[in-house]
Amino acid sequence: MSTTKLFEPFQLKSLNLKNRIVMAPMTRSFSPNGVPTDAVAAYYSKRAASDVGLILSEGTVIDRVSSSNDPNIPHFYGESALAGWQQVIKSVQAARGSMGPQIWHMGIMENHHSGWVPAAPFEGPSDLARPGFSNGRAMSEKDIEDTIRAFGSAAADAKRLGFDCVEIHGAHGYLIDQFFWEATNNRTDIYGGKTLSERSRFAIEVIKEVRKQVGEHFTIILRLSQWKGSDYSYKHAKTPAEMEAWLQPLADAGVDIFHCSQRRFWEAEFEESDLNFAGWAKKLTGKATITVGSVGLSGEFLAAFRGESSNPSSLDELIRRLDRGDFDLVAVGRALLADPLWVTKIRDNRSDELKGFTREALVELI
Ligand SMILES: Cc1cc2nc3c(=O)[nH]c(=O)nc-3n(C[C@H](O)[C@H](O)[C@H](O)COP(=O)(O)O)c2cc1C
Repeated sequence: MSTTKLFEPFQLKSLNLKNRIVMAPMTRSFSPNGVPTDAVAAYYSKRAASDVGLILSEGTVIDRVSSSNDPNIPHFYGESALAGWQQVIKSVQAARGSMGPQIWHMGIMENHHSGWVPAAPFEGPSDLARPGFSNGRAMSEKDIEDTIRAFGSAAADAKRLGFDCVEIHGAHGYLIDQFFWEATNNRTDIYGGKTLSERSRFAIEVIKEVRKQVGEHFTIILRLSQWKGSDYSYKHAKTPAEMEAWLQPLADAGVDIFHCSQRRFWEAEFEESDLNFAGWAKKLTGKATITVGSVGLSGEFLAAFRGESSNPSSLDELIRRLDRGDFDLVAVGRALLADPLWVTKIRDNRSDELKGFTREALVELI
């Protein structure tokens, strides 16, 4: 099948992309004390030089004492970390690439395996990371207000440093998703409630604040997932109507692009059609969407963490959906982590040179 559509340009507000391929956000933990190093800049600029359309950074945390459980995950606040990010975006743009940081607050977490803990307890809508696992405290309304402001100032910094867009991490069971989820959001104030719409209030206020800080023309991406690390089969929205009630208010608050995280992009979201999450999000909101999940690889990423290797696989089903107009952009994670030249190999039909993914690829930044 022809990959022509993958290599068409894409334009939306501040984004001017040379093709439809997005590097998925991937935590690497190579930023000691939260500061991205020259090696981090080189890692991203190598992908930019090899024609990745849009690079989304690994999750980078906001200015809250307990927004992270890992001292080597980058901060997106403070002079040294922001100077590190300035080098990253400069070198990506020198390689003619486009990039946005993925802005993150982890919420209630397990302690890091190293034993490192932040200087304050983890914080979330409640003290729960998942049913039966408590490790922190419920945020006060003042904590929530300050956290919303911290998301906004990170987005303002992204724009000031020259990034092309910003992505807010609302997926995978972290803070924003902990507010969405009834199992972790048992609040009785305005940030809780019986319906997903009520529990979306925190996310909506974050997006509104981000929009206020970056202005109308700067592209805001929101990453969402139905699944979470502690429950792969969970669905916030069980029907298209529920999905519309979830996504439309977020779109109205200022989201330009929904980044719809699945572990396998070809899985249908609901029974009535073969549309995936990104397909439904686009159909229901009219917004641009990004699909993701095992693109170009035989196995999915959480199994890869457990040691299963993944081999290169055909892009035909992806292209069929892209050509049909289901989604606008395609994010690629592990294939690009393991091989900075993945995009040029696809473009030039050098599929015999594609590499698979094994977890050994995580040991260093190449
Ligand atoms: C090493 C690694 C780190 C990841 N870190 C993040 C992250 O920081 N933020 C996020 O939203 N997703 C993260 N993910 C999920 C990826 O963005 C992506 O959704 C997932 O790997 C599926 O894409 P793939 O099958 O092409 O790898 C990570 C995945 C991997 C493999």
